[in-house]
Amino acid sequence: ASTASASKIVEHTFYVQNLTVDRLCNRRVINAVNGSLPGPTVRVREGDTLVVHVFNKSPYNMTIHWHGVFQILSAWADGPSMVTQCPILPGSKYTYKFKISKQEGTLWWHAHVSWLRATVHGALIIRPRAGSSYPFPKPYKEVPILLGEWWNANVVDVENQALATGAAPNISDAYTINGWPGDLYPCSQNQMYKLKVEQGKTYLLRIINAALNNQLFYKIANHKMTVVAIDASYTKPYVTDVVVAAPGQTLDVLLTADQPVGSYYMAARAYASAAGVPFDNTTTRGVVVYDGAPSSATPLMPALPAFNDTPTAHKFYSNITSLIGGPHWVPVPRTVDYKMFVTIGLGLEVCPANTTCQGPINGTKLSASMNNESFVLPTSLSMLQAFFFNVGGVYTTDFPAKPPIQFDYTNSSVNNNLPLLFAPKGTKVTKLKFNSTVEIILQNTAILGIENHPMHIHGFDFHVLAQGFGNYNPAEDRKKLNFFNPQMRNTIGVPVGGWAVIRFRANNPGVWLMHCHLDAHLPLGLATAFVVENGPTPDTTLPPPPADLPQC
Ligand code: C2O
Repeated sequence: ASTASASKIVEHTFYVQNLTVDRLCNRRVINAVNGSLPGPTVRVREGDTLVVHVFNKSPYNMTIHWHGVFQILSAWADGPSMVTQCPILPGSKYTYKFKISKQEGTLWWHAHVSWLRATVHGALIIRPRAGSSYPFPKPYKEVPILLGEWWNANVVDVENQALATGAAPNISDAYTINGWPGDLYPCSQNQMYKLKVEQGKTYLLRIINAALNNQLFYKIANHKMTVVAIDASYTKPYVTDVVVAAPGQTLDVLLTADQPVGSYYMAARAYASAAGVPFDNTTTRGVVVYDGAPSSATPLMPALPAFNDTPTAHKFYSNITSLIGGPHWVPVPRTVDYKMFVTIGLGLEVCPANTTCQGPINGTKLSASMNNESFVLPTSLSMLQAFFFNVGGVYTTDFPAKPPIQFDYTNSSVNNNLPLLFAPKGTKVTKLKFNSTVEIILQNTAILGIENHPMHIHGFDFHVLAQGFGNYNPAEDRKKLNFFNPQMRNTIGVPVGGWAVIRFRANNPGVWLMHCHLDAHLPLGLATAFVVENGPTPDTTLPPPPADLPQC
């Protein structure tokens, strides 16, 4: 028996393996954990240590990332392939072991190699430690809601084909709620998520956007939702009838069953931000069924925003504020040691001789960059091993290599010869001193498609000081910075043709990836990394890797 406040070790075993499922009139073999899609929900309390033994019984190289977990002094367990570890080869295993502290709410875990997270993912729920409570009334029940994307084709083939031809990848065939497409798709009448509720009770929905390439609007007919946390960081309660989440983002929302006994659809579909951005123009739905509702009744359907309803998305994204003084709340650092202006966007690469490419302009392939650098993962050794063992030649510490190219970033008709369009490839990182503060102005470029890029930073939550449209203009936009109660996130959708200012403290040694959480853009190079040096004391120094760390 343990005392009320004792932290526990929570242990899981994940078998990543083939799973045969029927979806959209077809039988398919996918990769999944422990025979379920989504995979198992991991439940811990703040302060617990999580130990997960991952056995790779799939035919692919595998890693698991614990999206949003701070990984304090446990960078070896973060998971992005070739960043903090070499992949777990088919037939091999690796044990991820880390403590979860100073954060509460909904996070998730997912494969972090090629496109495998499409089906290798699940919820990671962090409740307050025993004896502590939520900063809102205790809900009657807690329910994970994972929004996903389904491909009829093998996702690794979809990705490889896109990379080989240089074209944009095929769009998905369905969106899903907790793995089910719902009754608007063929052969899916009975493949619909059902949430049973009791009238008068309040439920905590733990919503995760686990889709690969699409932001999603999510709504429940006739019900309001109260957002109480985003990305496992408590917020001032925010009441809304629709939420939007970019891939990687999570939301904790309270739902009270305060309507007449009946059935109500919940539904999700793309927020694609602009015409021309490829997306699957379909709707997934599940159903909320009140206890005692007649089974014959047709559920009410919510009216979802249009795919390009940027005002609705922007209102939701920008109006949420942090819960001042709430559990694990951190004030904004008021001094900045590293200030970076970083452009993010798509670009082109020249098609190799004697090949045919189907990129956006004849003889080119699609590419992507941050500050005119297109990121490439190393192949011989993980970046974290290179950092720890002082091995040269794996990455260079010259990001950003040059000052940003000045022009109107929001002008999509730029001359094709601009250097910004053809970014050089490299593995360039920013080296940060332990405990230094970093401010990044992320400027979305409109080259080759104007779209919202969800930028995710591993290992840290950041304060979102301001966001807006157009070119970032220091004279005007500095005045908009919120130092008082800005939201904290691990993933921000940088507005379409716009910018965001974020700030964080680099208080954890290791190598931390920053990248676009659209899986279509990560392999194109929309990434970079921070190498945070060790601090001055043993308890600010990264320990050596675990003995079973996979080797390349
Ligand atoms: Cu959710 Cu780098 O990942």
